[in-house]
Amino acid sequence: MADAYKGRQTVLVVNGPNLGRLGVRDPEVYGRQDLATLTRDCEDWGRQLGLDVQVLQSDDEGQVIRWMHQAVDQGSAVVLNPAAFTHYSYGLADAAVQVTQAGLPLMEVHISNPSSREAFRRRSVISPVATGTITGMGFYGYRLALEAVAHLLETA
Ligand code: DQA
Repeated sequence: MADAYKGRQTVLVVNGPNLGRLGVRDPEVYGRQDLATLTRDCEDWGRQLGLDVQVLQSDDEGQVIRWMHQAVDQGSAVVLNPAAFTHYSYGLADAAVQVTQAGLPLMEVHISNPSSREAFRRRSVISPVATGTITGMGFYGYRLALEAVAHLLETA
């Protein structure tokens, strides 16, 4: 499985529903910066880490699932903020496990710490199939996830 990481340097940074509303939605929880800023940050961090980062967002569960399939087919690692799909989408979990089963890292990220919020956010159906999970670090969590991906790709 480790050998499958070698030579794979592209990363899809996939954001689920309502994350296109960053900066407007619950700024006390998610901060005042928008998705365009997060996109630029991730692209910069990717460049620093030698990763080719593509930032994506959709409110459509089917689209997010299709990006998991795309990651498998093109051999890309994934940084995934599944947003509300985290808590109930077995369809997305089934797609995410295909990424890790293909030998590709999949880091789950949450801007907030869902465990410290409403009860329904305490369960993730994605965490059991993710390579790792980072929560509660704001946008910086994406940097940590990209560093984890770079580390996994380098040390595989
Ligand atoms: C989130 C946490 C989820 O519970 C929520 O539904 C989101 C964002 C986060 O980044 O903290 O939309 O994934």
